Amino acid sequence: MTETLNVKPEFKKKSIRSYVIRGGRITVGQKNAFDSYWGQYGVSLFDGLLDTETAFARPAPVVLEIGFGMGDSLFAMAESEADKNFIGIEVHPPGVGCLINNAGKAGLTNLKVYMADAIDVLDDCIADGSLDRFQLYFPDPWHKKKHNKRRIVQPAFVEKIKTKLKVGGLIHMATDWNPYAEHMMEVLTLVEGIKNLAGDYQYSPRPDFRPVTKFEKRGERLGHGVWDLMFEKTA
Ligand SMILES: C[S@@+](CC[C@H](N)C(=O)[O-])C[C@H]1O[C@@H](n2cnc3c(N)ncnc32)[C@H](O)[C@@H]1O
Repeated sequence: MTETLNVKPEFKKKSIRSYVIRGGRITVGQKNAFDSYWGQYGVSLFDGLLDTETAFARPAPVVLEIGFGMGDSLFAMAESEADKNFIGIEVHPPGVGCLINNAGKAGLTNLKVYMADAIDVLDDCIADGSLDRFQLYFPDPWHKKKHNKRRIVQPAFVEKIKTKLKVGGLIHMATDWNPYAEHMMEVLTLVEGIKNLAGDYQYSPRPDFRPVTKFEKRGERLGHGVWDLMFEKTA
């Protein structure tokens, strides 16, 4: 059963967005998840800079993922890498509901979630030099040429991510749309201070820590390839 619920993502006004705000339909289970677990896992964009040691009540390496969709793969990673603190950012309320429901039922304590535009969260909430790993899996490809400008991966975006990473931190992206993979490769390669771990213009094999995502499974059924890109911050 679904109902319309007043659960809305947080974002600031901007001319170009990398997503479309979808309808507010949410299942009863997801609504219950917000009632039960948002207090434990949710963080507001408007709370300002996040002190991760306080938020997670421990110092630990921090992994940040943008656009986790329904959150299946982020949940699996947070569960299997219990030594790390995970921050997920997603604008789609049903996906947020699904993730916090799974996390709450499993009793995860190493996850925080923003239901907000990731650009705003990066600007206002994430401290410079604080992240150990950044992940972006199967971002909306914006296939049409006139929509390419809505792709989240742009030079200014990668510079922003680099600023938020520690030296030695990892940028990990994956896509099943070859023109977007080439675009990611071009943009990442041109940013100074990050190095392609597979060698110049080479794609990486999927690392063991990345489970196959829901979106990726759909792509596999459609016969799509998958390209992983892994870069390390060197300076
Ligand atoms: C194609 S889906 C992929 C979902 C998931 N990573 C997977 O592989 O199954 C891309 C997701 O990114 C989210 N998204 C796009 N731009 C975003 C932004 N600026 N901030 C937060 N989420 C964003 C969308 O809402 C969507 O759920």
